[in-house]
Amino acid sequence: MEIHADDIKNNRNRPEHVAIILDGNGRWAKQRGLPRMMGHNEGVKTVRELVTASAEAGVRYLTIYVFSKQNWSRPQDEVSSIMSLLLKTATKEIGELHRNNVRLKIIGDKNDIPAEARKVLDQGVELTKDNTLMTLVVALSYGSRDEILRAARSLAQDARDGKLSPDEIDETLFGSRLDTCDIPDPDLIIRTSGEYRISNYLLWQAAYAEFYFAKEYFPDFHRQEYYRALMDYTGRERRFGKTSEQVTA
Ligand code: IPE
Ligand code: IPE
Ligand code: MG
Repeated sequence: MEIHADDIKNNRNRPEHVAIILDGNGRWAKQRGLPRMMGHNEGVKTVRELVTASAEAGVRYLTIYVFSKQNWSRPQDEVSSIMSLLLKTATKEIGELHRNNVRLKIIGDKNDIPAEARKVLDQGVELTKDNTLMTLVVALSYGSRDEILRAARSLAQDARDGKLSPDEIDETLFGSRLDTCDIPDPDLIIRTSGEYRISNYLLWQAAYAEFYFAKEYFPDFHRQEYYRALMDYTGRERRFGKTSEQVTA
């Protein structure tokens, strides 16, 4: 049965924040005898579809894992083609995001991103900063351990400079030094392509996230497959350490 945006939107258990590990672009292309980059190109179309699908379903935050800190170790030609695709896509799509009242946010180690793309992305973040429909978070050169280390380093420096004492460091303060400081933790993490791992994604933030694994390669993960994941989520019981009786009371 087809799931409509309103079926999710009208469900009070819908996720506020969905985070996707978009995996399988390369295999999608290989399956068709095409170069890997064709899979990445196709993946961009799917991202567009899912941003719209999220907004229509009332999802307030969508985080997409586009390029990891570890992906720099791929063959140089794939890395540079992905960076060109990033620049092209950012240049083309940011206006559309803005027209649709979507806020753009980037997480990851910005210093790694080529200057030209970084400039376009920075401008996009600035342009869309007051938009209210939803937030699209793009994880670029993102690695969760790297993010946690950067946070730890900044706290250590403040402690050394006498700006804080080590026993002031609690979950809230620590979280405020992460790239995700102004967004809630993900409720649902989806990974496509039939792989069952987290690959250095949102390790701190995923403490109580629900997981959904889809067999489709990312370019084939369309609105219906996505809505199936969101529907599945609405039927789950999140306990945060409590008993089932406490949660349903
Ligand atoms: C995901 O697809 C996109 C990136 C990690 C950049 P992959 O490129 O990992 O595709 P597979 O896993 O090789 O099929
Ligand atoms: C995870 O996919 C990173 C992104 C989706 C950007 P990978 O394809 O890089 O993950 P592994 O190497 O299979 O774990
Ligand atoms: Mg992969």
